[in-house]
Amino acid sequence: MTKIAFIGLGVMGFPMAGHLAAAGHDLTVYNRTTSKAQSWVQQHGGASAASPKEAASGADIIFTCVGNDDDLRSVTLGDNGAFAGLSKGALFVDHSTVSADVAHQLADLLAEQGCESIDAPVSGGQAGAENGKLAIMCGGSDSAMDRARPVMDVYAARIVHIGGVGAGQTTKMVNQICIAGVLAGLSEGIRFAQASALDLGKVKDAISGGAAQSWQMDNRWDSMTQGQFDFGFAIDWMRKDLGLALEEARRNGASLPTAAAVDQYYAEVQAMGGNRQDTSALIRRLRKSGESN
Ligand SMILES: NC(=O)c1ccc[n+]([C@@H]2O[C@H](COP(=O)([O-])OP(=O)(O)OC[C@H]3O[C@@H](n4cnc5c(N)ncnc54)[C@H](OP(=O)(O)O)[C@@H]3O)[C@@H](O)[C@H]2O)c1
Repeated sequence: MTKIAFIGLGVMGFPMAGHLAAAGHDLTVYNRTTSKAQSWVQQHGGASAASPKEAASGADIIFTCVGNDDDLRSVTLGDNGAFAGLSKGALFVDHSTVSADVAHQLADLLAEQGCESIDAPVSGGQAGAENGKLAIMCGGSDSAMDRARPVMDVYAARIVHIGGVGAGQTTKMVNQICIAGVLAGLSEGIRFAQASALDLGKVKDAISGGAAQSWQMDNRWDSMTQGQFDFGFAIDWMRKDLGLALEEARRNGASLPTAAAVDQYYAEVQAMGGNRQDTSALIRRLRKSGESN
């Protein structure tokens, strides 16, 4: 049994912390909106803390799963931040999708306190978090991974140690670049099939067994063809992630013309009110044949 602090009980963090509690660990949770922390404790037991600092106090491992770089800084740094409550030797594991820069910045601060960290963004969405089937891409030392892996195992289908600090976040950028291109192609393919008046179920049957198959095709074809988008991975989050990738590309010199174009397409879908809709709502900007707008 490990003494664990879990900070950020959103769509992802809430079920992930639940898996840790179910595995018998001793959990203290913190969430900015306290009602979520209270409802988590009602469902899973454990304790809730009044600040990230209080949650981290005495913990062997501190997990975070919040939104962006600023959110991560606000729960870790400052007088009430988790780092103010760390015991020497504690391990910090961040599951948020943030920049590799902030991962380095926090790792440097932690090293001064005699602590290690892992940047460990996840893929697999809400369903992956709830079913304990996330893919976790990690940056950090071998010794930190040895401590974190058996604990993270309870909500992971796959844990890959990519390299040193920042390598997990950079890998997540690769993941998002790939998804952007796949969804752009899938959107055009579906609209083309509709314009040709093909039977969409039969088209999916035929092509999902071949080289065009993808997770997005398997899991989003039906909802895209039915125009259902109020679930899943929010476009606001995807734009944050593509922004991180485009920023990193300016540094590493990689060329990302498709990711840059899809990022702008998402801006159009946001302007249509799609901020919280699933990333598959990319198809909304492509008119159905016969539609005037
Ligand atoms: N949802 C997905 O499918 C998915 C998949 C892979 C990766 N991710 C990544 O995982 C991370 C979390 O995503 P999510 O879907 O769980 O987000 P979410 O449901 O919006 O939850 C965000 C969590 O962060 C907390 N938070 C945000 N800003 C904060 C601040 N300034 N101070 C303190 N707490 C703050 C929120 O607290 P409140 O409750 O008070 O708002 C909430 O607990 C993001 O980086 C996202 O990109 C998400």
